[in-house]
Amino acid sequence: MRNVLVSGGTRGVGLAIGKKLAADGFRVFALGRKESPELEAAIVAAPSGVMNFLPFDLAQVDLIPDLVRELKAEHGPLYGLVNNAALGTDGLLSNMHNSDIERLVRLNTISPIVLTKYAVRSMMTAGSGRIVNISSIIGFTGYSGLSVYGATKASMLGFTRSLAREVGRLGVTVNAVAPGFMDTEMTASMKDADRAKIAARSALKRLVDVDDVAGAVSYLMSDAAKNVTGTVMTVDAGNTA
Ligand SMILES: NC(=O)c1ccc[n+]([C@@H]2O[C@H](COP(=O)([O-])OP(=O)(O)OC[C@H]3O[C@@H](n4cnc5c(N)ncnc54)[C@H](OP(=O)(O)O)[C@@H]3O)[C@@H](O)[C@H]2O)c1
Repeated sequence: MRNVLVSGGTRGVGLAIGKKLAADGFRVFALGRKESPELEAAIVAAPSGVMNFLPFDLAQVDLIPDLVRELKAEHGPLYGLVNNAALGTDGLLSNMHNSDIERLVRLNTISPIVLTKYAVRSMMTAGSGRIVNISSIIGFTGYSGLSVYGATKASMLGFTRSLAREVGRLGVTVNAVAPGFMDTEMTASMKDADRAKIAARSALKRLVDVDDVAGAVSYLMSDAAKNVTGTVMTVDAGNTA
């Protein structure tokens, strides 16, 4: 069974991705700080050992090498990595605390890059593997109050393209998924009127669901996507069309 690590797999988009990949036949390690009741239920519902909770705080960048080493020693090499965990802290840049800016860049940019560094090594040795980075349409459009978040999400796109070139010859694909707005804990503070505006601006006149993003990741992890790398799959109900 192929192992896939999904960061931020305890709820929201990451949980939907983990459930989909488990249904696709992967062994899933859902990384997060706290096991949610929803993840607990998904672990119970899946065949034994297929869905697993991996407790870890990604702000502890220095501990990432040990995390990957221990996971590999216990369960074998990783076939796939989904860099999904992120903070969605908003705020006008001129008023934002520097500590908040640093937290965002650390969790949304540095942690996934370092996690990828250690996870990709065994994929390179195996001559196959998949990395999927969850970005956002905010990485290439704009949204007032999300400049730092937008910077981190754009960074994932640049990372995806260059790493795809670096590891392609070793059989590893690297892609990004850029979702539009979805209802999750990250966006819980958004007003209904703003939600309605986003839907109205989208070609399909509706919002994206976490399962739409899980479907895109499932494709990129599958054998059908063996010749897809260095690309960005936008899943936004036509918001940026
Ligand atoms: N929601 C949207 O509208 C939207 C749109 C476009 C892109 N995205 C992207 O989709 C991804 C998932 O977003 P979401 O809406 O599902 O967010 P969410 O509901 O806030 O979930 C975030 C996930 O990240 C984990 N996480 C947060 N801090 C962590 C830390 N320090 N260490 C380890 N795990 C941590 C959380 O688990 P714990 O709290 O247990 O640690 C949780 O599983 C993000 O990359 C986001 O940028 C979301």
